Amino acid sequence: MKKLFMPLIAATLSITLAGAALAADDPIRKAQELRQAPMKLIGNNFGFMNAMAKGDIPWNAAEFQARGRELGAIGQLDLMRGYVPDSYEGKTRAKPDVDFEIDDFQEKMQKFQVALRDFGGIKDADSMKAKVGDLGENCKGCHKKYKSKEYQD
Ligand code: HEC
Repeated sequence: MKKLFMPLIAATLSITLAGAALAADDPIRKAQELRQAPMKLIGNNFGFMNAMAKGDIPWNAAEFQARGRELGAIGQLDLMRGYVPDSYEGKTRAKPDVDFEIDDFQEKMQKFQVALRDFGGIKDADSMKAKVGDLGENCKGCHKKYKSKEYQD
């Protein structure tokens, strides 16, 4: 068994080290990617669900529910990771106001995460559909204040 695992551990280690080296290259960019990646997943799933709820694409209860559960799982992640000081320039649309008002931002994010988890736990697709609009209020409320339409430079 030992022999079998050694190459695996070595491979994992070298991947981890490569990742660490990249992060060391540009920790700010890494932080931006870390906060943008879950938002991208949220946007993709939510956009799909919103289109289905509005009837822009055909209704499919199983697919709708699966996407909703995925949103619930993303709500388990720490979505505040990546909002570090000095990371509000460059390839980011997060306004510097996030940093100036980090407590308010964090509060909004925590509320959102609770909403995501609750949403993911809804038992049937129809009840979930009825709550899509409420979930969307979180996005609007935060983006309006803290996210610009264009990148910061
Ligand atoms: C508490 C604040 C907050 C909430 C709530 C929030 N977002 Fe965001 N979102 C942000 C910020 C800030 C950015 C910009 C991040 C950056 O560019 O560094 C962002 C970026 C995005 C992006 C672009 C990601 C990328 O690739 O750059 C998408 C898509 C997105 N959000 C979708 C959503 C959706 C959909 C919801 C609601 C279901 C939502 N967000 C809720 C703060 C929030």
